[in-house]
Amino acid sequence: MRRTEFPLKVEHLTKRFRQGGTVVEALRDVSLTITQGEFLAVMGPSGSGKSTLLHLMAGLTKPDEGRVWVDGQDLTLMPDRALSRFRRRRIGVVFQAFNLIPTLSAKDNILLPLLADGRAEQAAKLLHSLLERLDLTARAAHLPDALSGGEQQRVAIARAVITNPSIILADEPTGNLDSVTGQSICKLLKNLCQEQGRTIVVVTHEPAVAMWAERIVVLRDGQILTSFLTAQFRDLHQLAAHYQDVVKVAPEEVRQ
Ligand SMILES: Nc1ncnc2c1ncn2[C@@H]1O[C@H](COP(=O)(O)OP(=O)(O)OP(=O)(O)O)[C@@H](O)[C@H]1O
Ligand SMILES: [Mg+2]
Repeated sequence: MRRTEFPLKVEHLTKRFRQGGTVVEALRDVSLTITQGEFLAVMGPSGSGKSTLLHLMAGLTKPDEGRVWVDGQDLTLMPDRALSRFRRRRIGVVFQAFNLIPTLSAKDNILLPLLADGRAEQAAKLLHSLLERLDLTARAAHLPDALSGGEQQRVAIARAVITNPSIILADEPTGNLDSVTGQSICKLLKNLCQEQGRTIVVVTHEPAVAMWAERIVVLRDGQILTSFLTAQFRDLHQLAAHYQDVVKVAPEEVRQ
């Protein structure tokens, strides 16, 4: 496998959805390069294309135009079977709605991506440490229904990282969680980045979540409106105020 400087890169992505007689351009010519070990947040108003971008990065959908490179491989050119295998091994996805299988225990949900490759047996040690770390040990045998929202979210995160993916993509991973649980999820993601050099993209509406990232990319109307580094802000309040300002003004003004 060719090593690459960039674990994740998208070039000139355009994605259209056809519904009835109308065409919605969810993303328009979006290019973005994410560096090794970077923690990136994607923000933007509802409908701006955040989930669409994340799904394209995960290889879950194909763009109408453009390329998605993960570890030097172009996902848009991969045949379906190779793509699902590649995705399972390299990309961890945390969905906003958790997407846990209701009939499987927390432990089996976490092991699911490995079962498909027959690798679940080898993961006992990793599973044990993940359960400990996510404070889920006592909940391992429970079905998703019997778990709180925060616990389900932690199971979804464990499932995304059990395969040791080089990139983790999370869509509103703290949506519907109380702020204390939300912050502990952010801390966990940050640790995965800092201690293990994983590359993380988090989609969020919340400045308190985005603040954990190094860089924030703001989408609007399917395009990148602007991006900025979180280090330039004194505190959360200042970052939130800046975000409010940029989403308010016209795109032409921001780009100038
Ligand atoms: N499967 C689909 N079919 C038709 N239109 C879609 C589909 N998925 C997304 N869209 C449209 O594409 C645009 C971008 O949607 P997307 O879900 O990426 O937005 P978002 O930024 O994630 O919004 P939110 O913050 O509400 O989750 C929206 O106008 C949406 O209605
Ligand atoms: Mg979304």
